[in-house]
Amino acid sequence: MTSTLSPAQMGEAARQILIGNDRGGYTVPNGRVYPFQWNWDSALVALGFATFDLDRAWREVETLFKAQWPDGFLPHIVFWQDDAGYFPGPSVWASGRTPPTSGITQPPVAASVVRRLWDEHEQAGYRERLAVLFPKLLAWHRWFHQYRDPQKKGVVVAMHPWETGRDNSAEWDGPASAVDVSRVGEYQRRDTSHLDQSMRPTKLDYDRYLAIVQFGRASGWNHQTITDSNPFRVADVGMTMILLRANRDLLALAKVLGDAAAEREIQSWLDLGPVAGDYLWDESLQAYGSRDIITGKPCGALTSGSFLNFYGDVRHAERDRIMLAHAERISGKVGHMVPSLDPDDPRFEPMRYWRGPVWAVVNFLIGSGFAMAGHDDWAARVRRDTRELIATTGFHEAYNPLTAAPSGGDDFSWTAAIWLAWAGR
Ligand code: GLC
Repeated sequence: MTSTLSPAQMGEAARQILIGNDRGGYTVPNGRVYPFQWNWDSALVALGFATFDLDRAWREVETLFKAQWPDGFLPHIVFWQDDAGYFPGPSVWASGRTPPTSGITQPPVAASVVRRLWDEHEQAGYRERLAVLFPKLLAWHRWFHQYRDPQKKGVVVAMHPWETGRDNSAEWDGPASAVDVSRVGEYQRRDTSHLDQSMRPTKLDYDRYLAIVQFGRASGWNHQTITDSNPFRVADVGMTMILLRANRDLLALAKVLGDAAAEREIQSWLDLGPVAGDYLWDESLQAYGSRDIITGKPCGALTSGSFLNFYGDVRHAERDRIMLAHAERISGKVGHMVPSLDPDDPRFEPMRYWRGPVWAVVNFLIGSGFAMAGHDDWAARVRRDTRELIATTGFHEAYNPLTAAPSGGDDFSWTAAIWLAWAGR
């Protein structure tokens, strides 16, 4: 696909991707590489459906929540049907659930999506559906505060790099190096049979991913055991900012429904925002960043997750100014914002997954944050860059920030959705 397509044709192409990846009530991120329902992909995909089929948009989120566990946990993958083309599949996770799921979660964007569905689209006929979804969203957020914030600092502690949605980010290199991989055993990856190895995480990354899965599985996916002794425990700046924003959106929904008890509970979580901001501000990096809670050490990487501070509404005049200066510096080094890793970081690789490439969905979150904070020029820049990347090369998984070359899979659902809901508008 090239820029020769008109805006109307681009919109039609985006809709066709969503329709083509629709498996009936849920959408796969991409038919070959990711043949199941993914948590944050699905929620964001609903924004795309909402532009042409509002009922289908609500259904996407409702289907995801059918896989919620009794304790409120919402899995990162739901295996509605098996597919030999993906590893690690349901038998590796062995969650013992129906439907089978993974045992880790993903960035909690769902409440923010539901608020947008409610606020920006037709409401008649949807109030009952909102009332049914709301307690499920609340239970998931409560689960985060109960199990993933052991120090009560208002952060989200990720128990696996995959939970953060930024799988092989340089942030995880330090914490993951402490994970014992000596008993991982033999396994066969599938991602590298679909995609070029140079765009994917390394073998060592994968050994660590599996060792952590094996720990969770051996615990019977006991969330308390995982909280207390998982081999990887990192306060993720991305998930923390996303949960803060999602709590704000959930609070707005509690008001719509007149649920005063929920309002008080959610407000108590939001009150921790400044504490979380302080904990995640890395003095030596002079930026927001993730932090290993086992060693207490900051991860020392400036990533696209760092720029979600505005989205999380963690405001601090001096730090805001410094983050904008980083944006300015980085924008002078890349053709398109926002690279997943600072190009001045020696680990920057413009084609390797979360170590450089630009992701349309993260740009959407960062751009929304800039807009909320009144930084309209930055919001416009991030949106324009996203539009250019997609219009020039198509609906890919990610893009090289220097050359705009596509990276990862094609016909990607959430990239199509972000086009329809934001970048292409
Ligand atoms: C990769 C991405 C993750 C996404 C998934 C499906 O694992 O890192 O963020 O949810 O693919 O698209």
